[in-house]
Amino acid sequence: MVLVAPSILSADFSRLGEEIREVAAAGADWIHIDVMDGHFVPNLTIGPVVVQHLRPLTDLTFDVHLMIERPEDQVEAFVRAGADIITVHAESTRHLHNLVSMVKERCRVGVALNPATPLHAVEHVLDDIHLLLIMTVNPGYGGQVFISSLLPKIRAAKALIGNRKVLLQVDGGIKPENVERVKKAEVDVVVAGSAVFGSSDYEAVIKRLK
Ligand code: DX5
Ligand code: ZN
Repeated sequence: MVLVAPSILSADFSRLGEEIREVAAAGADWIHIDVMDGHFVPNLTIGPVVVQHLRPLTDLTFDVHLMIERPEDQVEAFVRAGADIITVHAESTRHLHNLVSMVKERCRVGVALNPATPLHAVEHVLDDIHLLLIMTVNPGYGGQVFISSLLPKIRAAKALIGNRKVLLQVDGGIKPENVERVKKAEVDVVVAGSAVFGSSDYEAVIKRLK
């Protein structure tokens, strides 16, 4: 069964704490936290202070997806705030190997690839990471349409991982209606923002995604 990581980007930010509790009670496996800086992506979201305040509300894994320039400068703060996994974009640094090592000394580490970034960008860090995130939309906003032409890339990512203990995650446009297509590619974790938080029954949607 696939793990479901609701993205709080589509939650009601005026009652973020309650939203986290509700989604945890509804069967979420991880909490996916999208961090955007207005530079790497056009949108701006939250920083470590918010993560720190959410941390006592649940024991679920905090899966922090950094969509920021100079991620090196922020790793320490997000670890201290309570991140369990920090995923960095291969496109956001010139020194991916260094960055991966830096995160790995502190918590679990993931690497994300934008839709147009080829898989070989992660080939030489695959033995060092815990998670590979294939973006199925261009990062920046929730509620975008799943780019189905990326299905072969997801399958190729699975093959590239082989028998390494690296989780394969997909993020962007995942809904109960299309989740079967990514599950067929044997992904381990699906992120779903608008599908979960845009619905009136979190539990039903999470069940359908699983
Ligand atoms: C996109 C974010 C996603 C987003 C997913 O930049 O990384 O995590 O919140 O939202 P949906 O599921 O609505 O595409
Ligand atoms: Zn994300």
